[in-house]
Amino acid sequence: MALLDDLQLKTILASAQEAIAKANSLAELTHCRVTYFGKKGHVTLLLKQLGSLSPDERKVAGKQINDLKQELEQLLEDKKNTLEISLGDTELKKTYLDITLPGRQSSVGSLHPITHTKHKIINIFEKLGFVISEGPEIENEFYNFEALNIGPNHPARAMQDTFYFANQLLLRTHTSPVQIRYMQENPPPIKMLAPGRVYRCDFDVTHTPMFHQVEGLLVDKNCTFGDLKYILNLFLSHFFEKDIPTRFRASYFPFTEPSAEVDIQCVQCQGAGCRICKQTGWLEVMGCGMVHPKVLENGGINPEAYTGYAFGMGVERFAMLDYSVDDIRLFYENDVRLLKQFSGV
Ligand code: PHE
Repeated sequence: MALLDDLQLKTILASAQEAIAKANSLAELTHCRVTYFGKKGHVTLLLKQLGSLSPDERKVAGKQINDLKQELEQLLEDKKNTLEISLGDTELKKTYLDITLPGRQSSVGSLHPITHTKHKIINIFEKLGFVISEGPEIENEFYNFEALNIGPNHPARAMQDTFYFANQLLLRTHTSPVQIRYMQENPPPIKMLAPGRVYRCDFDVTHTPMFHQVEGLLVDKNCTFGDLKYILNLFLSHFFEKDIPTRFRASYFPFTEPSAEVDIQCVQCQGAGCRICKQTGWLEVMGCGMVHPKVLENGGINPEAYTGYAFGMGVERFAMLDYSVDDIRLFYENDVRLLKQFSGV
């Protein structure tokens, strides 16, 4: 072979430039590389011919081929970089995230106002050292009535109040049966609080067939009615977050003696008289009294050695007063427009 002629080199360079420029993918570019640098590639073949040249010619031709080789390598490398960048761009476009779009709002749930009120009551008594206890919602007549000194002819046993099942089972009508269960299991001193659902066959603006009560029981040596008054006054002023006038009105419960109903000064009219307190200036908020000796006995406690007090309050009643809701049924219609108003409390 004679010295490489310029034309041959220029032709190779020109065709390579064109092919590389046209390559649209990394695969096509590899194909170009093979065309020039593969085993039978144009540049490889040129290099193979070098052997047949004289040393002087080889020097010149070798340099020419090398220059061509370097130029092609550079072209291939540059193109590879451009292709990789544009490939990256298309990948990015596929997963493009417009961070200027407004976010999707997810709505967060909140505690039901009754749950919130229950927690508020529990928190206060826990701070006073009361221990939480729970009993079954399906009770028997013994725990719901008999053990609480409610004889067979007591009006609370009448069918219109109590939901009965077969076999003398019933839905508990109050949380007081937890008093008996707790005394049977725990020796005095006792300081317990029993929150939970209770059921009565009743339905109007202030009554729903299911509602919540919180029961309190303290049994110790020398426990007095004065202790009971103290703890309830303390609780009420904490719950309503102010010193609230109260009165303990003599009342009757079969399981306490003496018994009282606790009134607070109307939170709406401060005692002046309004629709909420039926013009009396007072609101009845709970029942209480000294645990009846027979009830202590039924709980396995010696009434000669111990005395105790008990109280029971309706959670819905406290929620209605706290949130100024005058129809209890609103709490159970689950209208989110109402529930949302209490989501921040
Ligand atoms: N169990 C009574 C009721 O449901 C409330 C109460 C509890 C009264 C404890 C006195 C003592 O009305």
